[in-house]
Amino acid sequence: MLIDTHTHIADPEFDADREAVIERARAAGVRKMILIGTDLPSSRRAVSLAEQHPFLWAAVGLHPHEAKAMDETLSQALEELAGHPKVVGLGETGLDYHYNHSSPEDQRRAFIEQIRLAKRKRLPLVIHTREAWEETFRILEQEGGRSHAADVGAVFHCFTGDSAIAAQAVRFGCYLSFSGIMTFPKALALQQAAASVDLSRLLIETDAPYLAPQGYRGKRNEPAYVRVVAEKIAALRNCPLEKIAEVTSGNAERLFQLSPR
Ligand code: NI
Repeated sequence: MLIDTHTHIADPEFDADREAVIERARAAGVRKMILIGTDLPSSRRAVSLAEQHPFLWAAVGLHPHEAKAMDETLSQALEELAGHPKVVGLGETGLDYHYNHSSPEDQRRAFIEQIRLAKRKRLPLVIHTREAWEETFRILEQEGGRSHAADVGAVFHCFTGDSAIAAQAVRFGCYLSFSGIMTFPKALALQQAAASVDLSRLLIETDAPYLAPQGYRGKRNEPAYVRVVAEKIAALRNCPLEKIAEVTSGNAERLFQLSPR
């Protein structure tokens, strides 16, 4: 069994063939998926799709690119949505200083707001961080993220750091979720991180429709391809695919409390 812990198949990119995409994922051994919101409309879409299938769950949040939209009304709407029984995570939230589609100030404000929301709702944090590691850890520390990670949980989704940052994240109590990026031939530092990180902290994801793995690059990504990520990790760690599938699925079920509910 594989679990895609981060996918955006509720987004319009999948409107034409969503059920076929879900079928292909199931056929590839993907037994559960977590649908991720990046703003209020996409969070609502994630929840409503999760309502339609017993093997789908949702996380609701505001992506750092959209952070400038955060205000009291939006925060309240997210908090209300976060109470839905199929919502198992808060995010994706975090900091992205690569693109700065929202200003760093707005990103920090929205991140802090969502950490507090995750604490109130006792939901694991789904964190997106790019070129902002130091600041991310500083804000998490300041907002009680360490105890939240220990008591409830937190994951760095689409982890792209090296082994040192991976070790720091694990010491902080976070899970690391690896995407198709680690299957690229040039992603050597990231592969080293995936090969060395504590197995009990390892998760896998597609981030579909983005970041299709090696062999599918340039195409729309989809949850079935999470298998390629698991295969690459298994090869790097010199262990059977079944072992990586079992460990990462167990970690995902524990972090997001997918079963038993
Ligand atoms: Ni994402």
